[in-house]
Amino acid sequence: MNIIMQLNNQLQLNTKNTSYVMHIENGILTHTYYGKRLPDADHGYMAKRYSYNCNFQSKISPNLPSLDNALLEYPPFGEGGIITPAIEVLNCDGTNFADFRVTDIIITDGKPVLCGLPATYAEDEDKVKTLEVKTKDAVSNVEVSLFYTVFYEYDVITRWAVITNNGKDSVTLLKALSGNIAFENKNYDVISNFGAWARERQIERAPLLHTGATTFSNCGSSSHRANPFMILAQHTATEDSGEAIGVALAYSGNHQMSATLNEYNVVNFSAGISPDNFRWTLGIGDAFTTPELVISFSANGLNTLSQNFHSIIKNRVCRGVYRDKKRPVLLNLWEACYFDFNDEKIKSAADSAADLGIELLVIDDGWFGNRNNDHTSLGDWYVNENKIKCGLKNLCDYVNSKGLMLGIWFEPEMISPESELFKKHPEWVIKVNGREPTKFRWQLQLDLANPEVCDFVYDSIANILKTTNIQYIKWDYNRTMAHVGSAYLKAEQMGEYYHRYVLGLYGVLERLNNDFPNVLIEGCASGGGRFDIGMLYYTPQIWTSDDTDAVERTAIQYGTSLIYPMSAQSAHVSVCPNHQTGRTVSMDTRHTVALTGSFGYELDPCKIDDSDREYIKEFIKFYNDNFDVFQNGKYYRLSNPAIDDYAIYQYILGNTVIVGAIRLNSHAVNLQNTIRLKGLDENYLYTDTKTGEKYYGSQLINYGLKLAASESAGDYKSFLWMFK
Ligand code: DGJ
Repeated sequence: MNIIMQLNNQLQLNTKNTSYVMHIENGILTHTYYGKRLPDADHGYMAKRYSYNCNFQSKISPNLPSLDNALLEYPPFGEGGIITPAIEVLNCDGTNFADFRVTDIIITDGKPVLCGLPATYAEDEDKVKTLEVKTKDAVSNVEVSLFYTVFYEYDVITRWAVITNNGKDSVTLLKALSGNIAFENKNYDVISNFGAWARERQIERAPLLHTGATTFSNCGSSSHRANPFMILAQHTATEDSGEAIGVALAYSGNHQMSATLNEYNVVNFSAGISPDNFRWTLGIGDAFTTPELVISFSANGLNTLSQNFHSIIKNRVCRGVYRDKKRPVLLNLWEACYFDFNDEKIKSAADSAADLGIELLVIDDGWFGNRNNDHTSLGDWYVNENKIKCGLKNLCDYVNSKGLMLGIWFEPEMISPESELFKKHPEWVIKVNGREPTKFRWQLQLDLANPEVCDFVYDSIANILKTTNIQYIKWDYNRTMAHVGSAYLKAEQMGEYYHRYVLGLYGVLERLNNDFPNVLIEGCASGGGRFDIGMLYYTPQIWTSDDTDAVERTAIQYGTSLIYPMSAQSAHVSVCPNHQTGRTVSMDTRHTVALTGSFGYELDPCKIDDSDREYIKEFIKFYNDNFDVFQNGKYYRLSNPAIDDYAIYQYILGNTVIVGAIRLNSHAVNLQNTIRLKGLDENYLYTDTKTGEKYYGSQLINYGLKLAASESAGDYKSFLWMFK
């Protein structure tokens, strides 16, 4: 089995079901093929490009008549074609042309680390190899190493670039994407997410036109608005059929993913750090590493593509003890009390939560400084003893004595103008010199490009973790970055700001992960505003959305599942009427929707009536007995809640199958519905654990499960089945 194969001037990368082939012509690296697995053979005929009427460039080789029609693997700016460049280097003479030719090819076992950046990783038993294609511009002596790591079993290839200035003068990178893949158009649709606060990751799908498609964020974080991934799927591709290629960036800052279509029917599919306001100076000998791009191909539709991403993210991006350990069932008190609580209230909540079977109690915003509303105290990370009179340590001991872990909220990257920290360090905020800094939610943002500020952030959290037995942190981030400037950086470094900020953030998270390996950190950014592979490297679960309405959540979780595993999606049962939408739905439905690998509650446990208490106890027991299915099972989307009358999902792990269905729209005359299950063994006899009824896998796959449509009228009714 060849994972990476070099045959003459061809490079072939193989995963279990896919092949990625490149060619080298006169030192120029071009793309040949990415799709279903090919035999290890000479695919040279595919690499041949035909000459059109454009002879304005000198011939590169008989196979490659001109570069504007070449499928360049990492196109530099200025080749003359309608190609989105992957790299643009400003030379010291003011020109921005470069011509990178291959100088060396290195194949190694395993995978190198990406300095200071989150990335996929290989474990000893993995079939993983890395290809480095070294290229160089002979005039400037700038070198670009293109890295490709092949995760054979995962059907995933990752890419990144390292750009090194070996010339005699400084150069400036105006653009440095992580990768580009060029191929002939096969009638592709572009699939991406759009969203907003409390409406994250809605799916959009439209044909790729010559006007191209771009999704990007320039607000400092990956954003609610545009998640850093893009999928190209054949127009006819469905959940189960057709070809689809997905790229997702392991990055939490400004990003850009685009697909362009040129006059020769060539698609350039590229992704990386947004080039807007990006200027990175490479002094002599300096190197720049791009974030990693995670790429997968499926010949069997979108669900397989999603499962490939789920599997690599869950197993080879997420790290630490909680990668594999059962995630605790948590109860977060935010919607229970907002800023209005004290230690007595928390103790009562702990008593009550313990009785329900909750494993982790989380105190959200408001436990520190003078924080009684969102106007003050970010940065003053010491306990508010007016509220928590007994002190954090004693409170934690109390909660622990009830058999619960305690977690607390931080918003470590922020500072309130009304805070002790601001009085001491006004120079630590992000602001443009001579202008008033911009507030969002009354707060300013700390300058994480400054290492001293990063140390402060680390120490603030580490002090609490060292002096208490806090075992969970909710790491929130509640504003967009705007009007950027730094008292720490020099004027010529300001174009590096956004990326330096992200590197500072990753540095702090890395130190905390290393020094407190048993603490679970959950990501959050006004809900799911920074839900990306970069954050998942440090925080194995992320608060999916501030919208806890079960009905709206079906579409948010559905869209999130395109790339991200269910174990990464925090989903909580909250009270009704729902605080965001005012909608009331049953306990059943709220629980059926929240069933992900990181399940919990967002309510006041002291205000639940007896019958709901019994329901919750039973449900937590059911969840705990089957957590492995929700955390590690394969996830199938059986309907699309944005258009279908039902939201339906399925998990399968070993012989256990769990199916959830939520009726979104009821009709006067409901249709006769069957749910066709997926991924079962056709020959197994499955037993419905509630009714004892038995079905062959082939029956459930080919005919399906009957949804008793007329059984009870009304929207938002839910059904949950388990088969063994
Ligand atoms: C936004 C988060 O998404 C909420 O869950 C909550 O933690 C608030 N911030 C607290 O200010």
